[in-house]
Amino acid sequence: MKKIKIGVLGAGMFAKSFIPLFKAHPGVEKVALADIDPERLRQVADTFRITETYAGLEELCRSDVDAIAIFTQRHLHAPQTIAALRAGKHVYCAVPMAHSLEDVEAILEEVRRSGLVYMSGETSYYYPSTIYCRDRFAKGDFGDFVYGEAQYLHDLSHGFYEAFQHSGGSDWKKVAGFPPMYYPTHSVSMILSVTGARATQVSCLGYRDRHEDGIYREGANLWNNPFSNETAMVRTSDGGMARFNEFRRVGWSGKNCVYMSMFGTQGSFEEHADSQVWSSLTHGSLQDVSELLHSNDYVNQEADPDIPVSLRQDFVSSLSPIHDADRLPREFLGMPNGHFGSHQFLADDFVKAVGQHKLPPIHAWNAAAYCAPGIIAHESALRGGEMLAIPDFGGPTAGWSKL
Ligand SMILES: NC(=O)c1ccc[n+]([C@@H]2O[C@H](COP(=O)([O-])OP(=O)(O)OC[C@H]3O[C@@H](n4cnc5c(N)ncnc54)[C@H](O)[C@@H]3O)[C@@H](O)[C@H]2O)c1
Repeated sequence: MKKIKIGVLGAGMFAKSFIPLFKAHPGVEKVALADIDPERLRQVADTFRITETYAGLEELCRSDVDAIAIFTQRHLHAPQTIAALRAGKHVYCAVPMAHSLEDVEAILEEVRRSGLVYMSGETSYYYPSTIYCRDRFAKGDFGDFVYGEAQYLHDLSHGFYEAFQHSGGSDWKKVAGFPPMYYPTHSVSMILSVTGARATQVSCLGYRDRHEDGIYREGANLWNNPFSNETAMVRTSDGGMARFNEFRRVGWSGKNCVYMSMFGTQGSFEEHADSQVWSSLTHGSLQDVSELLHSNDYVNQEADPDIPVSLRQDFVSSLSPIHDADRLPREFLGMPNGHFGSHQFLADDFVKAVGQHKLPPIHAWNAAAYCAPGIIAHESALRGGEMLAIPDFGGPTAGWSKL
């Protein structure tokens, strides 16, 4: 496998979870770092002993890196992705891929034209419950897909104020009001990455926010968005149905703020907070599968002190028994992980995909399929729940082999 050079764009909180993994991966020759904040750039480069730094995207695009891993704020991703692809760089991008259909299509067009790897860093794809359901669905244990539900419940007071202030300057509230359904992939990918079907139609309702911080109000944010919580019902291309909740103002805490349930004609998986059960027509009783899906918390790692206390659990949660740890590079053993063990798999997928020039599991077309339902859902919520069609972005161009 060809060793690759990765340039990390954005030296913020999330990037710090991935820089050590990219550095340790045997398929990586060097890691460079870019940030528009010179002081943060210097600090993070020093912490991780990175000697090659750049003042921003343009400089990084002119460098000799093979790939750019984007960890900038959520509303900046699409134009930066397009610029990086146009500069001939493979792209890894934290979610979301984009928040307009035009940008989703523009990224796909660049990927089709260039033949470069694009990968979305969707952590839910490697959550234990998603892996469990994907394995059992592939074996036929669910039968036909009937209904799925997934949610990302994250109140703004749980670390989000600090996260948005970290890079948002005095205008941080204008970005914090990002429509919840523009960040839909933690929930949407849990169901669609299991069945492989796409969402074809969506109807969504929004909760008009009333909080005194005034973040979610018409005129108060860049998207004129009044909704802090959004609930979407979708029709899926396999004849099934799903419900996705993206909540940012919700009385919910606890470790598990991203979880799912799925019902098929033969078997079902139900997850409530921290309990997971399997049930089927053939097995007489409920099967508790929580041991298999339990993540090892806080193993071998201390959370970054820059990360708000209420977010730290997420940033240090590690592998569960269901994870195929053997496929990871030896070098990752005992290294930091996070978001239920997903970080190491995402970093490994990207390095291998670029080095071997293969399609990673969360390739551009899957990223589009996980992201577009939310873009249309928000439009539906603004129209009082009107059922709207979701475009079909198709699948990978011919010639790709899968990782
Ligand atoms: N579970 C998950 O998938 C998960 C978890 C946490 C964060 N995230 C995502 O990761 C991304 C980063 O989050 P974060 O909390 O680290 O943000 P952050 O604000 O801490 O960091 C973003 C960094 O990008 C830099 N930046 C902005 N524009 C730039 C440019 N043009 N060139 C170079 N640097 C630039 C900023 O200066 C800042 O240092 C967000 O999109 C967030 O949604 C995903």
